[in-house]
Amino acid sequence: MNKLFHIVTYGCQMNVHESEKIAGILSGLGYESCDDMESADIVVFNTCCIRENAENHAYGNIGMLKKLKAANKNMIIAVGGCLPQQMNKAENLHEKFPYVDIIFGTHNLSKLRDYIIEKQTRKKPIIRIDEREGEICENEKPLRTSYPNAWVNIMYGCNNFCSYCIVPYVRGRERSRKSENIIAEVRQLVSEGYREITLLGQNVNSYGNGTDDITFPELLSKICEIDGKFRIRFMTSHPKDFSEELAKAMSQSDKICHLLHLPVQSGSDRILRAMNRRYTSSDYLRKVDILKKYIPDCEITTDLIVGFPGETEEDFNATLDLVKRVDFSSAFTFVYSRREGTKAATMPDQIPEDVSKRRIMQLVDLVNAQTRAHSAKFVGKTTEILCEDYDEKRGLYLGRNEYGRMGYFKSECDERGNFVNLKINQANGVSLFGDKV
Ligand code: SAH
Ligand code: SF4
Ligand code: F3S
Repeated sequence: MNKLFHIVTYGCQMNVHESEKIAGILSGLGYESCDDMESADIVVFNTCCIRENAENHAYGNIGMLKKLKAANKNMIIAVGGCLPQQMNKAENLHEKFPYVDIIFGTHNLSKLRDYIIEKQTRKKPIIRIDEREGEICENEKPLRTSYPNAWVNIMYGCNNFCSYCIVPYVRGRERSRKSENIIAEVRQLVSEGYREITLLGQNVNSYGNGTDDITFPELLSKICEIDGKFRIRFMTSHPKDFSEELAKAMSQSDKICHLLHLPVQSGSDRILRAMNRRYTSSDYLRKVDILKKYIPDCEITTDLIVGFPGETEEDFNATLDLVKRVDFSSAFTFVYSRREGTKAATMPDQIPEDVSKRRIMQLVDLVNAQTRAHSAKFVGKTTEILCEDYDEKRGLYLGRNEYGRMGYFKSECDERGNFVNLKINQANGVSLFGDKV
């Protein structure tokens, strides 16, 4: 019988895709995926440290494995991702959880294969963190788990150093993949039947910077030339680099979804400056206008932070105002989390928890009302969804439309991977319910 692996993933889409790469490495070593930790011969935690609760979540779960490891000494436990890549964190992890066998970082993920082989003949834990980014690895074969959707990295790292954010410290500097490799990967995926491709980067708008390769809008146009019916999404766009060329490129092919994730973080210019975001709220609104000029039906989603150091009631109200003006179709809302090593961690006036809590609740109410209103717009209309799964409990198939709304419907045949037109008769939060037409 083959040995079994189980991967626990925390954090962003980038990490979800990297877990597919880890799964690829493990399956290359002859392991097969299993659904629970108890039966696994190797458990990998692919961690995130963007906020304190992401970190604590991982600690809690790694801690729970102590008993399993005591009962099964041959089990291999590996911890990778952003958390150990932080300064001194790998050593801390080892002290806290001495039974963890392998600790690796974001820069040496592709060496996990060697570490596992090494571990088989070595008693002591393997703790390896590369300080430097290293070459982009082009021979990874991810074990994809989200058909008909597929993620494709176009770049790694981040140069922006937003003052609250740990990502540039744990992901290193920006580096772009060669466009020919990206295009070849997308072409291959489409020929294998994948129907939605999401291009990934911390800041896709600076794709190709510092190289003589093509720009991001040019890359999008080239990908659109690939034959076949498929959708393209991308994330994340930094507002400071969102250009008219990109809006134009988005409008020139119906393969590109009419949905843009454009994280604004705050509506207060004072806070945006302290965050080192390098745009003002009016710059942001101007970019939204440019986007709507080219794509009037484009939906916009965003990320928002409340409780950044020094945020006053006036600053917070400016965020509420901006949210009202842009009318986001949905938003991720976060309470600021102090991250050791970032500039904001040293700023005075960290906001008390009760104030942040009240603000986030107020913001969530506003965002939820907007989300519901955007969903309600689809009632009575027909919208095309890409079916991605079957919900056994509900007995319904589900999939997203190009605007990112999840649609549920009944069907007698297996619809996974199909584009299906739904006449929507009910909307509920972010979910739509309809009939196949
Ligand atoms: N590169 C992307 C997103 C990276 S992290 C971008 O620039 O948009 C995703 C989101 O997490 C960010 O947009 C931000 O809203 C939030 N975030 C990052 N650091 C945070 C912190 N210290 N506290 C709270 N939220 C944070
Ligand atoms: Fe973090 Fe800013 Fe980079 Fe996004 S752009 S990853 S928020 S530093
Ligand atoms: Fe992503 Fe978390 Fe790392 S958001 S880049 S997994 S810190």
